[in-house]
Amino acid sequence: MMSSLKIITVVGARPQFIKASAVSRAIQHWNLEHPDQRLEEIIVHTGQHYDYNMSDIFFEQLNIPKPRVNLEVGSGSHGFQTARMIEGFEQILEKEKPDLVFTYGDTNSTLAAALVTSKQGVLLAHVEAGLRSYNMKMPEEVNRVLTDHISNLLFCPTNIARVNLMAEGIREGVYVVGDVMYDTLLHYSNLARESSCIVGSLGLKSKKYVLCTVHRAENTDNLHSLSNIMGSLQKIAQEYTVVFPVHPRTLAALKLIGISETSNIMFLEPLNYLDIIRLQQEAIAILTDSGGVQKEAFINQVPCITLRNETEWVETVESGWNIIAGTNEELIIQAFYSMINNQSFEKEKVSNIYGNGNAADKIIEIIANVKLI
Ligand code: UD1
Repeated sequence: MMSSLKIITVVGARPQFIKASAVSRAIQHWNLEHPDQRLEEIIVHTGQHYDYNMSDIFFEQLNIPKPRVNLEVGSGSHGFQTARMIEGFEQILEKEKPDLVFTYGDTNSTLAAALVTSKQGVLLAHVEAGLRSYNMKMPEEVNRVLTDHISNLLFCPTNIARVNLMAEGIREGVYVVGDVMYDTLLHYSNLARESSCIVGSLGLKSKKYVLCTVHRAENTDNLHSLSNIMGSLQKIAQEYTVVFPVHPRTLAALKLIGISETSNIMFLEPLNYLDIIRLQQEAIAILTDSGGVQKEAFINQVPCITLRNETEWVETVESGWNIIAGTNEELIIQAFYSMINNQSFEKEKVSNIYGNGNAADKIIEIIANVKLI
């Protein structure tokens, strides 16, 4: 066993802060319990997300150690963004010479860090390995498939993810540990309930509003799809208040299709973690194209309508808590009403398919005992 292991954690986009917070907490916990085998964690922020409410607020609220380095890559095309990250991260890796690099999820930050780490012969760990939408038109699918194929340690949230990897011939270094986003949600659920005032301050009543989030390129870059989604929200808003925290890229697209304020749709700035979780807890249903939000809806036992044609989180659909509605206006409305009205439809109680809230501890146990390359 190593006496000390130097780890670099690479994050850049909002969902990665939420995932990495669970692992950072587990590292701190490990260090308290194992003073002779301390793990040193250096956080590198690529700068993919840079607005205060898309980045800093998550570090503050989720107690994530401050990044040692911020590559300040910012926005741009996929090539521009990924190339700047690769160039910047290569220098960091050469300087810091870590034993292991953690990458998370499926963003351009994930792929850039993975490529550099793999080519420098440093041990590469991918957290949230094995997820597949089987839609290679999604940038996220390209990022996650490529990252999985060059990773040494693959931490799967579910058994389905492990089966997906096996089908691609990836068998070594694969561990089903549970989902780190579930860890974070369990850890902060009560705090959200106790400390977030967002439901009251927006004048909302429990189970009388719908929460909506949209940010996927396939929806924001396709104005026809986005108009359909907005059409369905306007119909739903005749009966329920729709709360819609707007991602920056969605805001830009909404300006293009000329959506004006509608009385019963509340457009909000992107929300912090505790507020979005609190809004989820009291919503009657959630409409989203986010992977993380689909899963959070399931865990919070709120019906979810997914505004995409497929999902990586297939268990949420199999259990009855999620319907894949796509972006057809009528189908979204149908899915929404069937979810909230159909009493005979028995939804499975949430089981522990995403683990027991200790996925990050399991990951740290494994890496602390790993044989270095
Ligand atoms: C990225 C990830 C996506 C993840 C999402 C979470 C990729 C390919 N996509 O998408 O998988 O689900 O993050 O949010 O990595 N912008 C700002 N301020 C910011 C960040 C972005 O204004 O702090 C705007 C910029 O105009 C930018 C646009 O949002 O061009 C898109 O940001 P980008 O990082 O390219 O991708 P996301 O849509 O956030």
